[in-house]
Amino acid sequence: MDTIRLHDKTFRRSISCEQLQKAIAEVAARINSDYREKRTPLFVGVLNGSFMFMGELLRHISFDCEVSFVKIASYSGTATTGRVRELIGLSQDIRSRHVILVEDIVDTGASIEYMTGVLKKQGPADIAVATLLFKPECYRKQMPPKYYALSIPDKFIVGFGLDYDQLGRNYKDIYEIADDHE
Ligand code: IMP
Ligand code: MG
Repeated sequence: MDTIRLHDKTFRRSISCEQLQKAIAEVAARINSDYREKRTPLFVGVLNGSFMFMGELLRHISFDCEVSFVKIASYSGTATTGRVRELIGLSQDIRSRHVILVEDIVDTGASIEYMTGVLKKQGPADIAVATLLFKPECYRKQMPPKYYALSIPDKFIVGFGLDYDQLGRNYKDIYEIADDHE
């Protein structure tokens, strides 16, 4: 399929599943060489978006590792405080662990900054971010992700775990918004 329709918007195919798989294998090779001497690294996926990337990435990881998932809950502030976030679901003790935070996409960087801040307070040995996609034009923070499979322009995308209002996560290719000027 070259185009898909989700809710009120049309998306056109921009990155094929084959391109994604090749880029993921390359980033996995870098992680393999950086972590093979380290003791049982822990991959922490950020739900919902990271589930497909996590699956494909781990198929290429060749050292002993553990896998866990967290979720960010966002709440609308009742007054002027704006968004309040909370990290839920990390049941493991991550003290002295080598943590690899696995994300679907890094856009402004606010989410990974928040999550690495929370995790660092628990005293891991180190934390690195591995993301499927990175939008460098949108990034506003000081610590760009160490590992990313592909960098992409500032366009809204769906597929391979990423959604538009919860739809589109199931597609194996990445689709870019086609009608964002409508
Ligand atoms: P950040 O906090 O601005 O870096 O945004 C990261 C989060 O926003 C990701 O984990 C996604 O959930 C969401 N996001 C950012 N860009 C896109 C996109 O193009 N498509 C779908 N979700 C996106
Ligand atoms: Mg996300």
